[in-house]
Amino acid sequence: MNQIVPGAGSGPGNSAASRDIAHFLHPYTNLTKHRETGPLIIERGKGVFVYDDSGKEYIEGLAGLWCASFGFGEEALIDAAIQQLRRLPYYHTFASKSHHPGIDLAEKLKAIAPVEMSKVFFANSGSEANDTAVKLIWYYQNAMGRPKKKKILGRIKGYHGVTVASASLTGLPNNHREWDLPLPGFIHADCPHYYRFGAPGETEEQFTQRLAESLEKQILAEGPDTVAAMFAEPVMGAGGVLVPPNGYFQAIQKVLKKYDVLLVADEVICGFGRTGNMWGSQTFGLAPDILTCAKALSSAYLPISAVMITEDVYQGLCKNSDKIGTFAHGYTYSAHPVPAAVAVKTLELMESRRIVDHVREVAPQFRKRLRSFADHPLVGEARGVGLIGAIELVADKASKRAFDAKHGVGTYLVNRAQEHGLVLRAMVDAVGFCPPLIISPQEIDALFDRYAKALDETETWVRSGNLRAAA
Ligand SMILES: Cc1ncc(COP(=O)(O)O)c(C=O)c1O
Repeated sequence: MNQIVPGAGSGPGNSAASRDIAHFLHPYTNLTKHRETGPLIIERGKGVFVYDDSGKEYIEGLAGLWCASFGFGEEALIDAAIQQLRRLPYYHTFASKSHHPGIDLAEKLKAIAPVEMSKVFFANSGSEANDTAVKLIWYYQNAMGRPKKKKILGRIKGYHGVTVASASLTGLPNNHREWDLPLPGFIHADCPHYYRFGAPGETEEQFTQRLAESLEKQILAEGPDTVAAMFAEPVMGAGGVLVPPNGYFQAIQKVLKKYDVLLVADEVICGFGRTGNMWGSQTFGLAPDILTCAKALSSAYLPISAVMITEDVYQGLCKNSDKIGTFAHGYTYSAHPVPAAVAVKTLELMESRRIVDHVREVAPQFRKRLRSFADHPLVGEARGVGLIGAIELVADKASKRAFDAKHGVGTYLVNRAQEHGLVLRAMVDAVGFCPPLIISPQEIDALFDRYAKALDETETWVRSGNLRAAA
C-alpha cells in the first residue's frame, strides 16, 4: 500500500497518487482515510493477475468487482471492441433504430435464458438494469389496471446497486444511512443466511419454512394488492456471499405465486457461469418474470447490462406504450454497439471454451481449499458454490459472536492479503472470493496459499491486541 506524502513523487504535488487525492472522488472508499493512504494504482493485467505501478503482481481474487470473468487481456474481446469501433462506434436504439450487435445480443440472451423470455432491454450497469426493472413493474401494473400494486420487496443484506431505486432495494444499512433511503414503498424480507439467522436447534429445512411463512405474513400485513414484485439474487453477493438454504427459492416462490407477486432474479453476479450453471436461477431453481444481468455479460471489458422480460410483462408494456404513444424509457447508451459487440463475443467464448464446464471442473478444488479454513480459530463459516465463496471471521466460534466492528478485522486481513499479492474484498468481516472464471487449478492453489498467510497474520494481530474481548 502506498503511504502518501502529498507533494511527494515525481514532482511537487505531482505524483499520480497526489493527483488522485487532489482530484478523484472514489466510490465505496473511506474518503478521509484515502487522503492519508492514497490509491493502489493498477496499471495492467494479464489472465487472473493485475500489476500495480511499481510492477507488483496480484491475483485478482474478486475478478475486479465480481465481473472480469475472462480475466485481464483477453485478445478476442479486445479485437471485438476494436472492430466494432471501426465499423460503427456509436448509434442509439430509440425510435426503432437498431444495429447488428444489439440484435445479435438480444437473440443470444434469449436463447440461453433460464426460462422462456420474450424481449431484452439494455442499460449500462447493474443499478440501471434494476432501476429499469422497478419502472417496468410499475408501468406493467398500471397497464394491468392495478395502480395500487406497486410495493417492491428486497431482502435484508440483498445488494441491487446504488441508484435511488436500486439502493432502496438494497438491504444494507450503509446504502440507506444518511442517504434518506429507502424510498417509500420499498420493503425488505428476511435474509436467508442459515448460519447467522437460523434459530438454535432449527434445521435448515425448518429455517426455510419459517422464512417462507414470514414472507407470507409480511405480504398479508402490507396487503397483497399492494405488493408488486420481489427482487432476489440467487446467491447474495455484496451482503457476504450468502448461499440460500435447501429449498429456499421453491418455498418462497410458492408464496409469491399465491399473491401474484412478480419475481425478479438479479443475476448481476451469478449470471454467466459463476455458480456452475449459466445462471444462478438454474442452480437454485428460480423461475423469474424478469431477469437482470450485467458484469460478466461483457466480462466487464465495457459497461453493459440487460433486463429480460417474459411475454406477459411485454404485453403489459405494449398496452401502455400504445395508450401513451411511446415507451418513454431508455438511455443514450442502451445497447451501445461497442459493449454489445464485446458481450456477443463474450457469450461466444463462453460456449467455444466451455467455460461453464471449466467452472464445474475446478469448483470442487475451490470448495475444498475454501472449506479447509473452517477449523481455523478465526473462521466462523466457509461457504460457497461454483467459483464464488466467502469466509466469515468471528471472535468466538462457538457462539458465532462477531468482532467489534471498530477493529476492522476483515479490512486488516484484506490489507495483509494485498501485501502477499492477492486482492480480496471484505464485506464487514466476511471476506469474498470470486476469481476470474478462467482460473487454473494451480492459480486456485496460489490464491488460497496467499490467503492462508494473511489469515495467520490476522490471528497473530487479533491475539496481540486482545481483540476477541467482548465489547
Ligand atoms: C447483485 C448485484 N446487483 C446489482 C449490482 C449493481 O451493479 P452496478 O455496480 O453495475 O450498478 C451489483 C454490483 O455489485 C450486484 O452485485
